[in-house]
Amino acid sequence: MSTTATQKRPIRSQRLLDLPPYLFIEIDRKRRAKIASGADVINLGVGDPDRPTPAFIIDAMAEAIRDPRNHPYPFDAGHPDFRKAAARFLKRRFGIDVDPATHILTCIGSKDGIAHLPLAVLNPGDAVLGADIGYPVYRSGAIFAGADYIEMPLTAQHGWLPDLGAIDADALEKARLMWVNHPGNPTAAVADLDFYAQAVQLCAENDIILASDNAYSEVFFEKQPPSMWQVPGLSLDDFPGIEFHSLSKTFNMTGWRIAFAVGHPEVISALGAVKGNCDSGQFNAIQQAGAVALDHSEHPEVVAMRETYRQRRDVLCSGLGEIGVDVLPPTASFFVWAPCPKGYDSLQFCSRCLEEANVVFVPGGGFGVNAKNWFRAALTVEVERIRETIDRLKKLEW
Ligand SMILES: Cc1ncc(COP(=O)(O)O)c(C=O)c1O
Repeated sequence: MSTTATQKRPIRSQRLLDLPPYLFIEIDRKRRAKIASGADVINLGVGDPDRPTPAFIIDAMAEAIRDPRNHPYPFDAGHPDFRKAAARFLKRRFGIDVDPATHILTCIGSKDGIAHLPLAVLNPGDAVLGADIGYPVYRSGAIFAGADYIEMPLTAQHGWLPDLGAIDADALEKARLMWVNHPGNPTAAVADLDFYAQAVQLCAENDIILASDNAYSEVFFEKQPPSMWQVPGLSLDDFPGIEFHSLSKTFNMTGWRIAFAVGHPEVISALGAVKGNCDSGQFNAIQQAGAVALDHSEHPEVVAMRETYRQRRDVLCSGLGEIGVDVLPPTASFFVWAPCPKGYDSLQFCSRCLEEANVVFVPGGGFGVNAKNWFRAALTVEVERIRETIDRLKKLEW
């Protein structure tokens, strides 16, 4: 048999081919070319904390990694110590009572849980409701599960929250899962408990599982963003919902891959069943260090990081105001979501910033049509670099 036979079938599965194209290719190419040419590029495009993980968490990890009890395969649903710490965190921060044994599942980053949830609760041909502008994994998870993704448009007029009253009856009939994400990426929009109460009611009436992505709940500058499980009268044992919490942004732990889901026992165990067939859980030492982190969510180093983001936010927003950007400072998340100055299209605006000022922003147009005149800036560079960004942008004619 010849080993050089020409491949006739595509290597990639149809579900991979069905993923939407990556829309930031052009701006990424330009950014890489700039860096390769030696330019001093300020990158406000990446949503990855720039500071190290706090020392008290690294110390806990150093101890945990030496403990041989942490070396075997982890438990499927997560280490009991981590799940108990998650329950204590939820009680302290949101006042909600959960049973760590049935309501909590350790995830390898919230992305793991978000990507796998559709496989756990949907059948091919079902539909997922999710925002048109948002974290791309809600859509790819649906595609991988053979489900349709029905967009809920986000608009500035509606405060970048989905208009739940505008979802049509056919979509509600077909949908089995709805995603909400507040504080939002890229919009930074925060939802209040009334919004979650409406979403719960709509999902309960239409037999839809409600999934809330609360990865940014701890990056706040004003009122603390709520959890959907704080909706009065809502019971984790009665309502088929799930919420994802992540240690990534709260504790500068993006690379550690540690998060948890809190939800209805059957939804949690369904997600656990999928994960049990895909991975064997997160390294126990990371879960032990994660438990220490969760037990110290108001540690001075964590609080100081919030203050750092606040300072960066204030410098960036007032500076953007000086170049004619009509920006509303975010109250949570580390994203500034702003309309381009002078009605610029976001791709044109971001291209000019990169080409003429060596500054990287993310063009909203890559997320969806309603964001074509908006851009995202991440507060993940030091304040001196933000000042430098503004100085550079001021030198351009807008
Ligand atoms: C809205 C949102 N959800 C979830 C995630 C995934 O975070 P992690 O997998 O690190 O918990 C991200 C990461 O950027 C995000 O922006």
